Amino acid sequence: MKPEQFGEIQKVLQKQGHLIWQGVHRRKDGSTFPVEVTIKLVRLDKNYMVTTARDITERERAERALADKLAIEGIVATTSTRFLAADDVGRSIDAALADVAAFCRSTRASLVLIDRGGTAMSCVHEWCAPGAASHLGIFKNRPLDAMPWCLEKLKNHEIVHVPEVASMPEYAGAEKKVLEAWGIGSVLVIPLLVRKKLAGFIRFDDVTRDRDWRRDEELVPLRTLADIIGMAIERRRADDERSRLEGQLRHQQKLEAIGTLASGVAHEINNPITAILNFAEIIEEEVGEESELRDFAGRIVDETNRVAGIVKNLLSFARQDKEHYSPASIPDIVRDTLTLIAAVFRKDQIAVGLDLRGDLPKINCRSQQIRQVLMNLLTNARDALNDRYPSFDERKIINISCGPVEIDGAAWIRTTVENHGAAIPPEVMGRIFDPFFTTKPKEVGTGLGLAISYGIVKDHGGLLWAESGEAATRFHIDLKVQNGRFARGPMEGEVA
Ligand SMILES: Nc1ncnc2c1ncn2[C@@H]1O[C@H](COP(=O)(O)OP(=O)(O)OP(=O)(O)O)[C@@H](O)[C@H]1O
Ligand SMILES: [Mg+2]
Repeated sequence: MKPEQFGEIQKVLQKQGHLIWQGVHRRKDGSTFPVEVTIKLVRLDKNYMVTTARDITERERAERALADKLAIEGIVATTSTRFLAADDVGRSIDAALADVAAFCRSTRASLVLIDRGGTAMSCVHEWCAPGAASHLGIFKNRPLDAMPWCLEKLKNHEIVHVPEVASMPEYAGAEKKVLEAWGIGSVLVIPLLVRKKLAGFIRFDDVTRDRDWRRDEELVPLRTLADIIGMAIERRRADDERSRLEGQLRHQQKLEAIGTLASGVAHEINNPITAILNFAEIIEEEVGEESELRDFAGRIVDETNRVAGIVKNLLSFARQDKEHYSPASIPDIVRDTLTLIAAVFRKDQIAVGLDLRGDLPKINCRSQQIRQVLMNLLTNARDALNDRYPSFDERKIINISCGPVEIDGAAWIRTTVENHGAAIPPEVMGRIFDPFFTTKPKEVGTGLGLAISYGIVKDHGGLLWAESGEAATRFHIDLKVQNGRFARGPMEGEVA
């Protein structure tokens, strides 16, 4: 109390008989604590002031905890109504991250999802405090085994709280290194579960400024929040899957219609072409060496051969060939196909990188057709590289990999052809599997390669799909392992 306040206090005491206020007291060691001071006026022979000061540290903490609880419950309630009302799950996730990050006074809140193959993860939603750097670009396709300690805990549905990154134990060294490189002092990581399986996590950076997260009652609402977001993500995935299947069905129907048409037309064209070719060859032989006609006839032969090639493709597109299914090793098919095209790659100065797993089970397939698919993908990759780098360039590389992936709990083999040409623009990407869609000059492409390949992989119960960005363009052939499980020891763990 300051001396100048004394008169004022006396006046209030005279009027009400007592006075209460809150202030801060200092201990001998210099530390402070909150107090509630009560002054009572006691009238005896004289007026006395009786003052008591009560340490209210605990009470303030309890009040703060209650206010926090109400605040986070409010956020949970708002978030769930937001998800119920909105179609745009992404926007609702962004809003929820911003709310919780503000509550935690966190510098960054990131939502990281594990990809379908279960081997890599990417940050897909984020909120950053002003001045904090975004991780959307740098946290992309990171291998899961880059953070083993944290992932293990998350897989057991545990929340990971690191109050001080600097004193993380040695066994969490991988995580510590990354967090320190990003300048993060503390983190709180909450597992994101979809159907009780780890689908990703939400990470709040630098959370310790005014709260420690050890108490369960603080964490329960955060778990609830993660559950709500998990459910929303599940719903979005189901929606995406439905529209993907609808798209596939539409594409399949389109392919079938064009296939029927193509086979009809191709048969009709085949006979006249043979006749034209024969007659043109006769003319070529009959006319003298000097005659201009000989040149014309030669051109007829060349052009007709080109048409014959297209007709052959059309027939193959309509898939008239009747090869039988038999067990084959995909890496062997890859190697076979490469021997066919190796000379061409050498001429174009294209290097090939191979990463083929040796212990893969065989796949029941029409190997000639799978070879055709690979050939189409390799030819496309070569065209893209030659287009981007007309002469030698050290980036002229095609990488082919073949390995196991788990899709919806089943074992598949993924073969990937990757090249570093120019990225496929989104408007082209939506059409590449359409028959006769090509961006190449007329003499180079008919636009049937991918449509045929797509149909072949589809017939095998698999999926041919593509992704393209600045870094690379990748085509993936996913084929299912017959009994849904990989055969050998170490692989079993991965699939289970
Ligand atoms: N690796 C790739 N990089 C960039 N673009 C690609 C790649 N593969 C395919 N494309 C695009 O997809 C289009 C369609 O490919 P598709 O193989 O079906 O036909 P094409 O190669 O043009 O002709 P065809 O294969 O019949 O000779 C291509 O024209 C090209 O624009
Ligand atoms: Mg092609």
